[in-house]
Amino acid sequence: MNSVDGKVAVITGGAAGIGKGIVKALLADGAKVVIGDIEATALDATVQELSSLGDVRGVVTDVSNPESVDALADFVYDTFGACHLLWSNAGVTSGGGGNPWDQEANDWRWCFGVNVFGTANCVLTFVPRMIAGGEEGVIVTTSSGDGGIAPVPYASVYASSKAAVSCFTEALAHQFVAQATKLRAVIFYPSGGLLDTGLWEAQRNRPAELARVKPRPPAPGTTFAEFREHLAQAGLPNDVVDLDELGRFALDGALSGKFIVSHGLDRAGALLTARANAIQEGDLPPSALEGLS
Ligand SMILES: NC(=O)c1ccc[n+]([C@@H]2O[C@H](COP(=O)([O-])OP(=O)(O)OC[C@H]3O[C@@H](n4cnc5c(N)ncnc54)[C@H](O)[C@@H]3O)[C@@H](O)[C@H]2O)c1
Repeated sequence: MNSVDGKVAVITGGAAGIGKGIVKALLADGAKVVIGDIEATALDATVQELSSLGDVRGVVTDVSNPESVDALADFVYDTFGACHLLWSNAGVTSGGGGNPWDQEANDWRWCFGVNVFGTANCVLTFVPRMIAGGEEGVIVTTSSGDGGIAPVPYASVYASSKAAVSCFTEALAHQFVAQATKLRAVIFYPSGGLLDTGLWEAQRNRPAELARVKPRPPAPGTTFAEFREHLAQAGLPNDVVDLDELGRFALDGALSGKFIVSHGLDRAGALLTARANAIQEGDLPPSALEGLS
């Protein structure tokens, strides 16, 4: 599938940030879009804002809950009878940095619930229906270079969740080929500069029952503004990415036939080579801090 014109696209976490940029690109290319997002107010506002661009619907969805994802799929198939592009994009960071031993069980439950189980729930619910539909289709997961390529050590839970997303997507892609399906899988690594999205305030969507027990130890640079200022003061690049351009790049990449869609793969490649060399020697591979931006 190399065009979404007239096709049905479902994207989770499309009410804000990176996902919203992807929704705009999908609509510009003529797709009918269903956004599944947990944040009802942002979802309504985005659907209203973008409805002049094409057919866009919103379904309040918690991707960590299989019944909620089932309800999203029921809406999509009852309304349009098909899904051609599934983009598992919703994600959270348990946040705030800190040592791996400062992360609590609820940090793991929430972050893995949304990022890993959320992706699994989308695949379990949509892929059998997409295969049964017999049409070409694409499944995209939004992973992160943090974990997907190398971990940021002070973001250990998030990095571990995104490593799982990338590994699962790779397995999915292989099995689509091995089983001769008409589906492809793609990993998207958002990058290209600083991303001023709601991820910095992901805690807004954290359920009360998965709250931390102890307050998180204070860590510098946990807001976007602080982080950007820190980079500027250190003389490091701190350009902010245009999220509409990123959405266009992501969609074009997802339809290009490539498995990985990302800016700066050459830099990632250099880091991965260093990691492979270290692993081959049984040494600790360099982290994302030594090569990703
Ligand atoms: N911002 C970055 O620097 C960055 C870098 C690499 C990867 N990513 C990934 O990009 C994706 C999009 O994040 P973003 O940066 O646009 O953040 P964002 O907070 O702006 O967007 C995430 C969206 O997911 C929704 N969401 C959160 N929990 C949900 C749940 N349980 N069910 C359904 N929807 C839920 C939010 O309401 C929000 O609309 C995430 O998977 C994130 O991990 C972000």
